[in-house]
Amino acid sequence: MLRIRILIALSVVILIFLPMSLLGADAESNLWVTVGEDAFNTLRSSRAIGGPADLARLDARDGVVITRMAESDLPRFAETIHREHKRCGGFMVHASREAALEALRVHAQPSLRQPLGAPPSYVIDQPVWVRRLEDSLDEAKILANIRILSEDFVNRFYSDAAGENAAVWIRDLWRGYAEWRPEVTVELVEHTDWRQPSVMLTIPGTTRSEEIVVLGGHLDSVVWAGNQNPGFSAPGADDNASGIATLSEVIRVAMEEGFAPQRTVKFIGYAAEEVGLRGSQEIAGDHAAAGAQVVAVLQLDMTAYHGSPQDIALLSDFTDSTLTAFVGDLIDTYLTDLTRTSTACGYGCSDHAAWTAEGYPAAMPAESRLPDLNPNLHRTTDTLASLGDSAAHAFKFARLASAFTVELGRDAESAIFEDGFESGNTVAWSTAVP
Ligand code: CO
Repeated sequence: MLRIRILIALSVVILIFLPMSLLGADAESNLWVTVGEDAFNTLRSSRAIGGPADLARLDARDGVVITRMAESDLPRFAETIHREHKRCGGFMVHASREAALEALRVHAQPSLRQPLGAPPSYVIDQPVWVRRLEDSLDEAKILANIRILSEDFVNRFYSDAAGENAAVWIRDLWRGYAEWRPEVTVELVEHTDWRQPSVMLTIPGTTRSEEIVVLGGHLDSVVWAGNQNPGFSAPGADDNASGIATLSEVIRVAMEEGFAPQRTVKFIGYAAEEVGLRGSQEIAGDHAAAGAQVVAVLQLDMTAYHGSPQDIALLSDFTDSTLTAFVGDLIDTYLTDLTRTSTACGYGCSDHAAWTAEGYPAAMPAESRLPDLNPNLHRTTDTLASLGDSAAHAFKFARLASAFTVELGRDAESAIFEDGFESGNTVAWSTAVP
């Protein structure tokens, strides 16, 4: 009898408090956002969120502002930044007030985050492997995968079923490439706050497995104009089916050629970049919390639109200058037919910023300078047709990313002789000997 009374009492408590807690959760669903001061001022003056009073300046340091908004305000917010500042992202969404404050603190004083682990030697000495992977790259496969991602999935939005399905498809594609490499793992990385998982492929390092090299790009897509109802259209062919297809091709040739790096190499397709770098922040944060020695991060966000006279534009802000210079050296060494420039992208521009915020060295080669940004971004017109049905530009980034994989996957002092003698290519070792 007592048991029944307790059960009834419990049921009453649950019935009364469950709706209340749900309401509470809804009221607290306001997002903590950090955004560049310039974009914040534009948003306030344009009354993008419904009026200045609605967009509070809660804290600010060194050109970055903390504000709050409801998830439902995000579309107008993001669209305005994109339209007025030509930024692909431009803001970071944080899980809590503490996380936003910490982001501001580290932004103002980057030395608060010390790099974990020794930097790479940055010696370029693996021409045999670089050429081997490069020779196997297939532009047609990049094109085919951009087509599937942008046409077979109506969108890749972080909260949409199609966005989840696209992530599963990428996992299966990468699993297929790694099928006969049992040491390679491919997994979905689930996120608690939204539906779409990230995807991670890990090639464990042979001799320096505790040191990690990351190559990534976001797998989600968005169109802010209109609604984001289930099944809305957001092809995102350039942004960022192109980056995922480019990384996929590097994975394919690394697997096929039997490339075994000394360092652990991870390829990551990040969820939820377009809504505040949320997938990459969680993943970079997890690595930092685990004390992981991530020695280099390469971000590919859009690779298929040739908007500037130069071929590759290296991001100059929120990136590591030494690693960025190294990426430039890779271009000058291995991609001598290409030209390069540099460009600034602003606060929270893409997933590299999430790694930078954790103190990890990141670089991003962009498809164009920011003033020459693809005009179809975040529109239903970001299709393969608008890219001339071509992956020729993306192919350049596949060459660069495979050189990055090889030269940072393997480092000086080893494998030089092995490779040189193995292939009979004396250049491999003679160029490495001072
Ligand atoms: Co993007």
